[in-house]
Amino acid sequence: MEKIYLKDYEKPAYEVKTIDLEFELHDTNTLVKSSMRLSRKGKENEVLFLNGEELELISIFLDGRELHESEYELSESGLSLHQLPKEFTLEIHNAINPEANTALDGLYKSGGIFCTQNEPEGFRRITYFMDRPDVMAVYSTKVIADKKAYPVLLSNGNLFEKGDMDDGKHYAIWKDPFPKPSYLYALVAGDLGCVNDSFRTMSKNEIELNIYCDKGNEAQCTHAMDSLKASMKWDEERFGREYDLEIYNIVAVDSFNMGAMENKGLNVFNSHYVLADADTATDTNFMGIESVIGHEYFHNWTGNRITCRDWFQLTLKEGLTVFRDQEFSSDMNTRSVQRISDVKSLQERQFVEDASPTSHPIKPDAYIQINNFYTATIYEKGAEVIRMIHTLIGEANFRAGMDLYFKTFDGQAVRTEDFIWSMQEASGFNLEHFKLWYSQSGTPEVNIQTAFDKDTRRFSVTLTQSYLSPTQIGQQPYLFPFKLGLLNKNGQENSLKLASNENQPLLDKGVLIISKEEETFIFTDIEEEPIMSLNQNFSAPVKVHTSYALEEYAFLMEHDKDEFNRFEASQTIASMVLHKLIDTIEANGPLTLSDVYVNAFSKVLLDMKMDMSLKADSLTLPSIAILMQERKVLDVEAIYMARNFLKREIIRSLGADIQAQYTSLNHSYEYTLDSASMARRKLKNTLLSYLGALKDETVILNQYRNANNMTDRLSALSILANSREEGKLEALNDFYERYKDNTLVMNKYLAVIASSELKETPMNVKKLLEDEVFDIKVPNLVRSLIGTFARNALHFHAVDGSGYSFIADKVLELDKINPQIASGLAGVFKDYGRLNEKAKVLMKSELEKILSTKELSKNVYEIVSKILA
Ligand code: BES
Ligand code: ZN
Repeated sequence: MEKIYLKDYEKPAYEVKTIDLEFELHDTNTLVKSSMRLSRKGKENEVLFLNGEELELISIFLDGRELHESEYELSESGLSLHQLPKEFTLEIHNAINPEANTALDGLYKSGGIFCTQNEPEGFRRITYFMDRPDVMAVYSTKVIADKKAYPVLLSNGNLFEKGDMDDGKHYAIWKDPFPKPSYLYALVAGDLGCVNDSFRTMSKNEIELNIYCDKGNEAQCTHAMDSLKASMKWDEERFGREYDLEIYNIVAVDSFNMGAMENKGLNVFNSHYVLADADTATDTNFMGIESVIGHEYFHNWTGNRITCRDWFQLTLKEGLTVFRDQEFSSDMNTRSVQRISDVKSLQERQFVEDASPTSHPIKPDAYIQINNFYTATIYEKGAEVIRMIHTLIGEANFRAGMDLYFKTFDGQAVRTEDFIWSMQEASGFNLEHFKLWYSQSGTPEVNIQTAFDKDTRRFSVTLTQSYLSPTQIGQQPYLFPFKLGLLNKNGQENSLKLASNENQPLLDKGVLIISKEEETFIFTDIEEEPIMSLNQNFSAPVKVHTSYALEEYAFLMEHDKDEFNRFEASQTIASMVLHKLIDTIEANGPLTLSDVYVNAFSKVLLDMKMDMSLKADSLTLPSIAILMQERKVLDVEAIYMARNFLKREIIRSLGADIQAQYTSLNHSYEYTLDSASMARRKLKNTLLSYLGALKDETVILNQYRNANNMTDRLSALSILANSREEGKLEALNDFYERYKDNTLVMNKYLAVIASSELKETPMNVKKLLEDEVFDIKVPNLVRSLIGTFARNALHFHAVDGSGYSFIADKVLELDKINPQIASGLAGVFKDYGRLNEKAKVLMKSELEKILSTKELSKNVYEIVSKILA
């Protein structure tokens, strides 16, 4: 299949100045009329190619004259026109079928609502256009639809006019004054409920804010609306960015491939990221809404006003906007807690991806299907790369760099180099070497060696980088900030002084700048051999290796000044213990647990001054996904056994303390969303998960029965779903009956069942495929049931291969319906290379079965062929 390369980029031959669209909406036959003003940029005779897929062409007019079939070429992928004047008007009429659009790409129907999703290449499924982000045009839209069925008619920009027509129809005209690429185009029509509010900007413009949802759900939009207003205020205060239209609309729909989309002035959201109340949403859901609302809002400047020249630049807008939403969430909540959650997600998703056959740089150089590149690497590693720039140049220079970026590139489609240029220009910091982070893939590893000389009171630290990638060769050492602290035996930090003057610039902040494969730093005036706290606050997205034993990590877990590293030490020590247990299980040895670990755990548990959220994170064992990633050859059962053994040992040694602390936290407070209350619930539910390892499930069942919010209820439910006792059935049935009409809550139910370790899980999942709450056409439901099951390693990697063949069949079934969702699911096969021989044979035959299927989508082909290669 055809690969697209960054090096082949060419400027567009034509410019589209304006495009006026008119839609007559019908379920199966929507009429689209487009009228464009074009002008030629390239040489005479330059061909004009307009992308167009799954369109029915009706007619074309060039400067008002209808073209004969012989005057253009039509193919499956678009329309070519030759011998065009320098400036001209092109009018095209075509028809589309929104109801048949199960790929949810372009114009489609979700429930009774017409909506669009055009990023990255959906607009070509609406009309013929140069569907690439460097073609920026001014759009107007006239929407015509039945007034009764579709009272709300929306598009980008400001409302210009609306009115009634004959035969029960009405229309609305929207005009967006800002030039934009086609991927930001949006249209929505439906019978929607609405929550209305307003925001006064820093230059005193009153902006109308609307959140549209299914009627009856309006009360669940308040958190989203609060988050929107908070985002608008934050972007003004932190980055000086103001909103630029008269109106900001958000529409929540149930069928959506992604989380949300930043269309200019008309965001379309997966209802999962809009609707919430205490009875139906967890604390995590509330936090997710705040961050996604923020993310899409922040795109208005980083993505929309300044967009990407081509899709290889995707991290320009996504990495930067994730950085901005992470900062927003940090400022709104507790910074260290936010940092831990962001890094955890990076380690669980991006590190895993970067160690797999789909590993790629944050700026890839080739793709088959761009949809496959909305990855943890582009997003989360991309955000870490921006964060490193922030650390290297400091907040003030970073802000100046952003200001310069906006001033220089507003209204343009640019490259990551243009962003780096702004940062370098504003700070004076040379970022040339740093750019390798954009072109190299793989997670760098840093090895640490030390020497202490008591007489000279010198402590030397040698860092050695290794930078291999599973998919690249010939890599170079990176430049990155590396924050460290040197702790005395009493837990105090030494002040950092270097023997040489070389690496001084950020030393007052504890940051070294690393740029060579091997570097030694000599610290002076060190009285006793210190314990190092390395890569504090996760200053660089690398893996750090030391020769430290459990004792040193236990010390850091107790004393580190850096809250992130206190957490990280807890994970490192648990990982060390777990890997030893896994090795022992694999060698059929007797399982024992070190006192050092139990003592360290107990110190954190009994530390009553510690932030409760940090405590909860520190008491949580590394996930199965993280442990799997650290094994050379996967023995999934051994990993589960070791983790469950450790949990049981903890409850055996510390059960009384855990129980007592749980009880002290489990009062029936009123449900509020402040950080302190969320932290208390998180700690309580972390402790509850340990109590789940006990035989007696009364405590858990009681929490389920008495919960006044979804966080507590769902925590109890997911523990019960792993139990063999009868409380399980009571709770699961109760939950189902109570919420079966609420599809967002049913997603939680499906995920709880699909993630259970019990042996009947595969059977239960298959049963639910037939349940009335499930619908394979709705991505959220697919992700909750099938996606969760595919990430349930115990069952996915069942030794008889049944998990592989079940998921392969679902990939193929989904590919006919929605290729983007199918290829997302196919990603779970990426552990292929690390399976044992027997499992490899089983998975291989499933992967080959997928690849040999006729009419396989590019999406699935690209992922599966990479895994097999
Ligand atoms: N621009 C994306 C939405 C998108 C993703 C469109 C993939 C087309 C293909 C949007 O800004 C986004 O990044 N959404 C994320 C959520 C965000 C908070 C990381 C998403 O949808 O997952
Ligand atoms: Zn985004």
